[in-house]
Amino acid sequence: MNLKGAKAVVLGGKTGLLGQALTNALQNEGASVQPLSSQDADMLDQNTMNTILDHEQPDIVFNAAAYTQVDLAEEEEEKAFALNATAPVLTARLVASRNIPFVHFSTDFVFNGRKNTPYHEEDRPNAKSVYGISKAGGEKSLLEFGYDKTLIVRISWLFGPGKMNFVQKILELAKDKDRLNVVSDQTGSPSYTPDVAASTLELVKRDHFGIVHVANSGIATWFDLASEAVSLAGLKCTVQPISTSEYPTKAVRPPYSVLDLTSFCEITGQTPRHWRQALQEYITELEST
Ligand SMILES: NC(=O)c1ccc[n+]([C@@H]2O[C@H](COP(=O)([O-])OP(=O)(O)OC[C@H]3O[C@@H](n4cnc5c(N)ncnc54)[C@H](OP(=O)(O)O)[C@@H]3O)[C@@H](O)[C@H]2O)c1
Repeated sequence: MNLKGAKAVVLGGKTGLLGQALTNALQNEGASVQPLSSQDADMLDQNTMNTILDHEQPDIVFNAAAYTQVDLAEEEEEKAFALNATAPVLTARLVASRNIPFVHFSTDFVFNGRKNTPYHEEDRPNAKSVYGISKAGGEKSLLEFGYDKTLIVRISWLFGPGKMNFVQKILELAKDKDRLNVVSDQTGSPSYTPDVAASTLELVKRDHFGIVHVANSGIATWFDLASEAVSLAGLKCTVQPISTSEYPTKAVRPPYSVLDLTSFCEITGQTPRHWRQALQEYITELEST
């Protein structure tokens, strides 16, 4: 679709890490955007959602809202399932009745991480955490609903402006500490939110639907990402690799969840830049604010 002049509703677009980047990217494309937070539109309240869609009359709806607290989800299973597994298809029903595209985001955490080569779109979700299982439930119910204007974008390991994230946290800690221990046996696809947002819009512009993996190029462990961030920021802190067993968390995370980007590259003819390049841009931006 042509985004110039189009009206987009972005759930999570006012306060979410990815949602804010999507809002910016859509505005850069000349779209008129209504970014929403949970205060503006509770996805669990279908009457409100319907009223908002009636009022906004969007040409496209993006769902960048989710329950994203991976460890807390182990204790708040009901909340995680309501928002991640049930709400997306309820919203998709409202969107489908208006015959406009619905863009939903999912996660590399739907995979159990036992592969050691990048995950393809058709690999079977087999999550090990409540968060991952709830997000896989969201994908499944959208696929079962079968609305043909649904795009599910699986993304991973986000960093970017507008909200606290792993990179910003590491840099804040590194300013005060001589040494930081960071897990080096989980490998994934670090992704810069402005790049993920721009890549998503490339799919939207081509009217592509179904499931597509989107990330920056390159792979990393959390240790690699933290080390590079500290080095690019010119901080003296030593980053020390540790194993997952030395940093126990409530939720089990996939040891390997790199996303294969072949489909994205074939559909768009574009190759996302390497995460190191994107990280450099992010850190430069952080330093200028
Ligand atoms: N962060 C990552 O590393 C990562 C990795 C892979 C995939 N993802 C996926 O990417 C998407 C965006 O993640 P994110 O990290 O950007 O999320 P986030 O920063 O945690 O933002 C979540 C957004 O959801 C909104 N929200 C929460 N409850 C809501 C409700 N009941 N009704 C409407 N909106 C509600 C929040 O609004 P309030 O601020 O008002 O609560 C917030 O804007 C999610 O689908 C997530 O699963 C994220």
